[in-house]
Amino acid sequence: PAIQWFPGHMNAARKKAEETMENTDVVIEVVDARLPAASSNPMVEKLRTFRSRPCLKILNKTDLADPQATAEWIKFYESQPNVTAYAMTTKKPADVNKIPSLCKKLAPHRGVPTKPLRIMIMGIPNVGKSTLMNALLKKRVAKVGDEPAVTKSQQRIYLDQFTVLTDTPGLMWPKIDMDSDGFMLAASHAIGTNAVIEEEVAVFLAEVLLERYPELLTARYGFKTEGMDGVAVIEGVGARRGYRVKGGDLDFEKSAHTLLLDYRTGALGRISLETPPSRAVRLAQHAAE
Ligand code: G4P
Repeated sequence: PAIQWFPGHMNAARKKAEETMENTDVVIEVVDARLPAASSNPMVEKLRTFRSRPCLKILNKTDLADPQATAEWIKFYESQPNVTAYAMTTKKPADVNKIPSLCKKLAPHRGVPTKPLRIMIMGIPNVGKSTLMNALLKKRVAKVGDEPAVTKSQQRIYLDQFTVLTDTPGLMWPKIDMDSDGFMLAASHAIGTNAVIEEEVAVFLAEVLLERYPELLTARYGFKTEGMDGVAVIEGVGARRGYRVKGGDLDFEKSAHTLLLDYRTGALGRISLETPPSRAVRLAQHAAE
């Protein structure tokens, strides 16, 4: 694939997660609501179903995602056995505060003083795990000398007397099989890629936007999208903003960057890059290749 972050030392993270899974009652998998399937690591599913652990699937960053697409994903995940799907944003404390009781419902036999509810938070980088963890811990009454050491290894923290949280090391990048997943991830996270890749990513994003949200492009940049392709959209952004290189030609790199930034910050509007049906189409295309 064009984009691949899978690092060689991933296996260590998997091993650690495998061990921790044994002592876990509920797995929280955090994904990005704008691209729930592309931002999910299939390894999480494998590890937890092997041990028959229930899952609270958190679709985070719903403040940036298309609410209709999010509703479709929730329905999709809720139809899976042993899964509760929950759409939220870490920006809303009320959303965060519902998590412990959702977990408790998935493991009703735990959560008593002798058997605390053991929750493991998993997910690929940048989906909001640390933010979520911090938000959960904010509720906790901090005891002096009880602060968790910030290390590369796993943290294990009591949320309250009956609930323990662990957090896996951040190295949970999936092996990316489909180019479209790599592009969606790159578009959504400000991961350092080189300029050439970034332009390719922006063209991919522009094509998704043309297909799913042409009216948002018109609203933001003031051009009509009929007959445009991805490259034309980026040129349109640059023309609109007056981005020129020396000599007067359009600055394509800067225009591409602006489109990506406007998507990432939410300036373009609430956008989801995939839905369950669009995912099914991409999987079928990939299988046919
Ligand atoms: P990680 O542990 O899974 O790697 O993710 P982390 O919590 O570091 O969050 C990654 C980025 O996502 C952070 O932004 C964080 O603020 C942002 N984020 C987390 N939850 C939400 C959410 O519900 N909505 C939105 N819009 N953003 C969220 P950053 O750019 O790295 O830092 P910052 O400048 O936002 O602080």
